[in-house]
Amino acid sequence: MDNSKIKRYTVTAALPYTNGPVHIGHLAGVYIPADIYARYLRSNKRDVKFVCGSDENGVPITLKAKREGITPQEVVDKYHKIIGDSFKEFGVSFDIYHRTSSSTHHQTAADFFETLYNKGVFTEEVTEQYYDETAKQFLADRYITGTCPNCGNENAYGDQCENCGSTLNATDLINPKSTLSGNKPILKETKNWFLPLDKYEERLRAYIESHKEWRPNVYGQCQSWLNAGLQPRAMTRDLDWGIRVPVRGAEGKVLYVWFDAPIGYISATKELCNYAKLDVWNPKAEEYYINNYESDKCGWEEYWKSDETKLVHFIGKDNIVFHCIIFPAMLMAHGDYTLADNVPANEFLNLEGQKISTSKNWAVWLNEYLREFEGKQDVLRYVLTATAPETKDNDFTWKDFQARNNNELVAILGNFVNRVTVLTHKYFNGIVPTLMQVTPQDQAVIDELATFPGKISASIENYRFREALSEVMNVARLGNKYLAETEPWKLIKTDEDRVRTILNISLQICANLQLLIEPFMPFTSDKLMKMLNNGRQEWSEAGSSTLIKRGHTINEAVLLFEKIEDAAIDFQIEKLNQSKTANAVPAQALLAKENIQFDDFSKMDIRVATIIAAEKVEKTKKLLKLTVNTGIDERTVVSGIAEYYKPEDIVGKQVSMIVNLAPREIKGILSQGMILMAENSAGKLTFVAPAEQFTEGSVIR
Ligand code: 2FM
Ligand code: ZN
Repeated sequence: MDNSKIKRYTVTAALPYTNGPVHIGHLAGVYIPADIYARYLRSNKRDVKFVCGSDENGVPITLKAKREGITPQEVVDKYHKIIGDSFKEFGVSFDIYHRTSSSTHHQTAADFFETLYNKGVFTEEVTEQYYDETAKQFLADRYITGTCPNCGNENAYGDQCENCGSTLNATDLINPKSTLSGNKPILKETKNWFLPLDKYEERLRAYIESHKEWRPNVYGQCQSWLNAGLQPRAMTRDLDWGIRVPVRGAEGKVLYVWFDAPIGYISATKELCNYAKLDVWNPKAEEYYINNYESDKCGWEEYWKSDETKLVHFIGKDNIVFHCIIFPAMLMAHGDYTLADNVPANEFLNLEGQKISTSKNWAVWLNEYLREFEGKQDVLRYVLTATAPETKDNDFTWKDFQARNNNELVAILGNFVNRVTVLTHKYFNGIVPTLMQVTPQDQAVIDELATFPGKISASIENYRFREALSEVMNVARLGNKYLAETEPWKLIKTDEDRVRTILNISLQICANLQLLIEPFMPFTSDKLMKMLNNGRQEWSEAGSSTLIKRGHTINEAVLLFEKIEDAAIDFQIEKLNQSKTANAVPAQALLAKENIQFDDFSKMDIRVATIIAAEKVEKTKKLLKLTVNTGIDERTVVSGIAEYYKPEDIVGKQVSMIVNLAPREIKGILSQGMILMAENSAGKLTFVAPAEQFTEGSVIR
């Protein structure tokens, strides 16, 4: 986009699913780079709206609700608060953190759908979709898993394979399985509204090809989808959680979550601008985390419908197709909207050499980090930027986190600022000394300092945040080198005027650091601002050697960073090891037992049975005496499950039971059969039960 045309910026960060807290993978991939970019633009006095919010619709939410035994509304309320609060505490400077459950969003998304519907964009198609007969429900998106036809990943979802990044239709999956019941689903006819992506293929190709400057991973993924040929994609779903489809004949259907979620960026901007118009405090500002709303006046359409607006989407790589193909096709179909100028998607961040996994608790959760490393937001911001997976997957390790804090933040940045401020107090009572005679050595430092802002700006504007941060650290390195070469602590005895000059220049470097680190480490910048007592400058002043005036008094020197000791790191590593143990496959399960013949198996008579009475076996900790109805008879079985089940909780439960195991006496009771149990890695036992109520005596084979 021609820079001279840009009047304003709309910066979006992927709306996180509201089904769990955010972790370091989300931060490194999306929220930190987006925040650096937005803060940098603000420091440059550019007009920017930085929007985000909770993605509260779709199957990820209803699945979580089922797992936690609460309602979808309770799930989103709980995690909207956890995620929103953590972002705030972490210094992610959204102008608004909205929610897709808001009425503004429901209205905006429904209107958008209606506009496309009225324009005749959608095709109405009756297709066969997977249906779970046990759960009595169509299976969309994450309700169904199976093997990806492209890469063989056995845990691909019904709409996407997270392993190879391909978008799928549930009917593409090999060996589909319902995540609700585990059953193989059947196909059943249903009507849905499809966006004919194939019709937009040429326009999408022209759009993508006009952005050869995009990151190679993003551009490459787009090209391969286009080359594979686009297919129509259903924009509605047979679900009961989400935004109702606003057309007749669509009862019981909701908008596909990937139709409504990106519209969430638009509704967040709308909400922000609505409240920006109010001059009074409004409780919604709290609920939606609206910042600066009192002074900020805007019309939302300027941020979405003007070719003088630069729209940038920050996302993770699994979201590329939705932001580069599907959402642009929706915007093209609508007609009024501007398309994104860039979509700087990051690759994935691994943790200690393994893929981050929410279900395996293999993650560093932001809310826990904030609790366990109080006041150290910038350390994580720094480490995740310095190791950001911008061009390839990268690895986060706790040892590297510690090393970067101790050897870079403490030893380079913190040390420089501390030496300068301490010496200024020691030699000049905290008053900025006058610049006396400037030597060629001083001039070289002044000149080099002036080159940094341009380099850092260029890196940020080209979405190379790692590179930008490393240049920022080079400013501190320049300062350290200057002090090491000039040794003011030695000169003070013989040449006080020379020390005045050295400390004046060093303080200018500190003031520049305060400005240049702000997008990356806003808390440290604030700390430094308080120490230098010199207010906040704009980016346009960066590089200057007169940022802080002679005669100005600085405040007391405080440490910007402190060393992180081994104990804190060992604690984190131990926490991960515990997740590993909990996830481990039990040793006995790794090796299968010796092969048996079918005849051996068929000798076992396994039946569905119902427990009709249960009591503890006296003087034992583990045993329960059960009376069961096997369908053949009523009999007694002694089972070692007392640690996991209370007798009163299991009466009426159906179980699987070997009914022809030779009877044996246990603690004086004749046990006639055996109840089948599954054992997890922690040794916990649970019944192996039929997925639905069956008549007693039904054969299991
Ligand atoms: O992958 C995710 O977490 C999605 N909730 C991202 C949505 S981005 C946008 F379109 F809202
Ligand atoms: Zn795949």
